[in-house]
Amino acid sequence: MYLTLGLFILPLAVNAVNIVLSNDDGWADSNIRVLYRTLKASGHAVLLTAPAIDQSGTGSSMSPPASLEHQCQYHTCPFGSPATGMWQTDPNITYVNSFPASAMDYGINISGPERFGEKRPDLAISGINNGNTDNSGIAVPFSGTVGAATHASILGIPSIVFSGQTNHRHAWKAIPPLHSRLYSALATNLTNTLLASGPPYLPPKTFLNVNFAAADPGLCDQESNFRFVMTRLYPAFPGLSGKDISVCGGDQRLVTEEKVLKTQGCWISVSLGRAVTKRDAPMEEQKVVYEKLKSLFVCLPDGQ
Ligand SMILES: *[C@@H]1O[C@H](CO)[C@@H](O)[C@H](O)[C@H]1NC(C)=O
Ligand SMILES: *[C@@H]1O[C@H](CO)[C@@H](O)[C@H](O)[C@H]1NC(C)=O
Ligand SMILES: *[C@@H]1O[C@H](CO)[C@@H](O)[C@H](O)[C@H]1NC(C)=O
Repeated sequence: MYLTLGLFILPLAVNAVNIVLSNDDGWADSNIRVLYRTLKASGHAVLLTAPAIDQSGTGSSMSPPASLEHQCQYHTCPFGSPATGMWQTDPNITYVNSFPASAMDYGINISGPERFGEKRPDLAISGINNGNTDNSGIAVPFSGTVGAATHASILGIPSIVFSGQTNHRHAWKAIPPLHSRLYSALATNLTNTLLASGPPYLPPKTFLNVNFAAADPGLCDQESNFRFVMTRLYPAFPGLSGKDISVCGGDQRLVTEEKVLKTQGCWISVSLGRAVTKRDAPMEEQKVVYEKLKSLFVCLPDGQ
């Protein structure tokens, strides 16, 4: 059974689950809205719970939601609006006027139970961020997109961060641009592959950090052009960093996100981090996740 969404054809998820979805670019950004629709089209129950305005670069900051002393992003709510609110035509699209981690927290603790009942969300997703959290992971500690996801993982809900190199922001009402549609289709594919592996979806208090190469008309414009590679967030320090799983002949060392994203082609890096430290997860946990996603993974052309 297939549903079409723009260019991309998505199989229905085998395991439909409850998902909380946040970001740091704001609730009215086209990337998060297209991902919301794509996840729903794939069969999931989704609650969008994201900041009222752009909150990029705010890391794991948190504060109680406050009423607005400005408009919501792209004039989607007026000055003086309440601290939280919902989209006129869809109560499952909500804003929280605070930091990304607080928006995720509010979605999990307050609006989630109203939508999903007693059952907590099965999965938290953050993104799709406009711009990559690459540079060998140095941006990870400051990313609000990562902050929202790691907060969910710390509360016991497995989380995935998605970011894309194409960094052209569009408002919710724009015709969905190629990168929003393409990245959403790829994100939904990875999500459904992970869900199909069965719970627990990730080792406790870990998160997946996923970065997409640029969506490039004529070069990287089809879902089938892209390839996933298992990576590390940070370069390893010889003698200090524990060993990684051995894949692609890497002698117990995974390639870094940065290396994958600097390699010519349509690559996607997938790293496993620990939510509290935002650093690479140990080998035993990498192995669990590699097994779950191994149908997606390939090696870089140089064998690394
Ligand atoms: C909102 O989510 C709930 C829980 O999944 C669902 O029952 C309801 O139909 C959704 N509402 C809309 C307008 O999609
Ligand atoms: C949400 O729940 C978690 C865990 O129960 C708790 O630590 C956190 O303070 C709660 N947040 C709010 C805003 O109540
Ligand atoms: C993911 O994409 C690949 C290649 O396009 C496809 O074979 C696979 O069935 C997809 N998996 C899911 C879960 O959508």
